[in-house]
Amino acid sequence: MIYSKIAGIGSFVPEKVLTNEELCNIVDTSDEWITSRTGIKERRIAEKGLTTSDIAAAAAKKALDISGLKPEDIELILVGTITPDMIFPSTACIVQDKLGLKNAAAFDISAGCSGFIYSLSVADSFIKSGKYKNILVIGADLLSRITDYEDRSTCVLFGDGGGAAVLTANIQNNRGILSTHMHSKGGHDDILMLKAGGSLMPASLESVNGREHYIKMKGSELFRYAVNYLKDIAQEAIDFNGLKPEDIDLFVPHQANVRIIEATAKKLKFPMERVFVNVEKYGNTSSGSIPIALDEAYKSGRIKENDIVLIDAIGAGLTWASSIIRW
Ligand code: ACO
Repeated sequence: MIYSKIAGIGSFVPEKVLTNEELCNIVDTSDEWITSRTGIKERRIAEKGLTTSDIAAAAAKKALDISGLKPEDIELILVGTITPDMIFPSTACIVQDKLGLKNAAAFDISAGCSGFIYSLSVADSFIKSGKYKNILVIGADLLSRITDYEDRSTCVLFGDGGGAAVLTANIQNNRGILSTHMHSKGGHDDILMLKAGGSLMPASLESVNGREHYIKMKGSELFRYAVNYLKDIAQEAIDFNGLKPEDIDLFVPHQANVRIIEATAKKLKFPMERVFVNVEKYGNTSSGSIPIALDEAYKSGRIKENDIVLIDAIGAGLTWASSIIRW
């Protein structure tokens, strides 16, 4: 049996912090509303000129250094993102150039906030099939560039950041990805989308004046889908592996809203002591959310070698996904 082991992990967030108090000067909101509805206290905002590939490359460099692999060992680069530097070439190809990963194939995966777990799943399949041995998986987003800072119902939620994992084929023992699970359900553009800039609505004066280049979201509808689907996909992974919730050492859910996280944990009968939460510091960083959280959990000692870790996420599409990893 071949397992995809996490040989290195890293993350990067921009330095600039945008607090709830600062947001009160931009839109009609309050720290009390944002904290009580979302758990978010602050988020990171990229300075002008910083791109998603910069964030991705910075996180990937850390993961590569920890893995001990050389740049030429990487055979595939996958970037989960909905905020690529440009529509083409892919952000994965730009990261390849920035890090000198000259032997790799590279492509992006668009799955909203599920982008990192979708990418992890694709990478795991390539490793299990024997096609590749060393794959760089990145989740990175720069949501501040597509956030409407005149829309208080969305602008308080999002932030910038990314993380990366180096996966390597392991035949020595059973450490690595135990399973991945993906679902999607089209036809929900009205709940979460960025309409303009593609073939449906090319950029025009009208699209800019209509603020169509920003995220549009129906928050409370999404909230209901999120709680149910995140619970279902976590349960699917637990059942698939013949485990019980108490076998999971740490649950690292998508960091969108602490109320979604608490409601999911409650439905799974999972104590919050074994749930990792850092949404208060970064808000929702979309594809960046899970790898940033995994990196922080590992570096702070919340994840130890051989621990069983559950991750899950939901995002635009709708897409939702989970994975169980023996670290
Ligand atoms: N400050 C103050 N008031 C606000 C703000 C704000 N920033 N935003 C909205 N309100 C108001 C609304 O106008 C509304 O007022 P009204 O009742 O007078 O019309 C009131 O607050 C309640 O709004 P709701 O949308 O019903 O509030 P809800 O409790 O659903 O919380 C929230 C909103 C936080 C967006 C929640 O629905 C949510 O987190 N949804 C999930 C969204 C999400 O995470 N999306 C990310 C991508 S997908 C994913 O990661 C899951």
